[in-house]
Amino acid sequence: MAKLLSSSIARKVSMALSGLFLIVFLTQHFTINITSVISPETFNEWSHFMGTNILVQGVLQPILIFGVVFHFVMGFILEYQNRKARSVKYAKFSGNSNSPWISRNMIISGIAVLLFLGLHFYDFWVPEMNTKYIQGDMSGTMMIDGENQLRYHHETVEKFAHQPVRVGIYVLAFVFLMLHLLHGFASSFQTVGFNNKYSKALNGFTKAFSIVIPLGFAFIALYHYFSTL
Ligand code: HEM
Repeated sequence: MAKLLSSSIARKVSMALSGLFLIVFLTQHFTINITSVISPETFNEWSHFMGTNILVQGVLQPILIFGVVFHFVMGFILEYQNRKARSVKYAKFSGNSNSPWISRNMIISGIAVLLFLGLHFYDFWVPEMNTKYIQGDMSGTMMIDGENQLRYHHETVEKFAHQPVRVGIYVLAFVFLMLHLLHGFASSFQTVGFNNKYSKALNGFTKAFSIVIPLGFAFIALYHYFSTL
């Protein structure tokens, strides 16, 4: 495996494949989270299922965490090597007018998303792991308005309610996510060699996805903030 990843092409392809895998996760994550706006009951039920299902928790979640770490580590390695190659080949490199700002700065938008994930794990993932696996409470319920109810919707809304700074950071991070996807999603298909009569349509789809999904995430955070003012 280490030997396989030592070639530059293999690293680029593994970067593209892990990115596509994370896009599948993002789609799933968005689908569940948008229900927190549309139907709190559905959000509670789906969150409870995902949070307690043994296959999701024991197999899919570790694969996801590995995918996230792999993508970031590989991204840093690729950036380091590109910089090294650039400083040798173009001693007077002063920016490439043919490559737009977004593609030249994937590392910056990537670091912004990584910083966001640090905050996001602290906000949601760490408390969730604590409740379930340290305190051992797998019921998914708590007392809300004097009744024992599923807690996921209540907890999610509470994170954004009266928290303008947190909401601001989230929205800014989603702008960086949009920039990252706008270049990364489209180029991942080129990297894996997808080049045929459908390429143009696929490119259009990746661009639309890269704008709509981050905007949708921003809408969720803003919705919970403004609906609790
Ligand atoms: C307003 C937008 C978002 C909300 C409300 C939200 C909500 C949540 C919640 C409630 C969890 C805990 C799930 C659990 O462990 O049971 C979670 C986990 C996670 N979120 Fe988000 N999320 C949002 C945006 C994002 C974005 C944009 C990304 C990626 C760039 C992301 C990546 C993750 C990851 C990697 C996890 C840990 C994996 C998991 O346990 O599912 N989230 N999120």
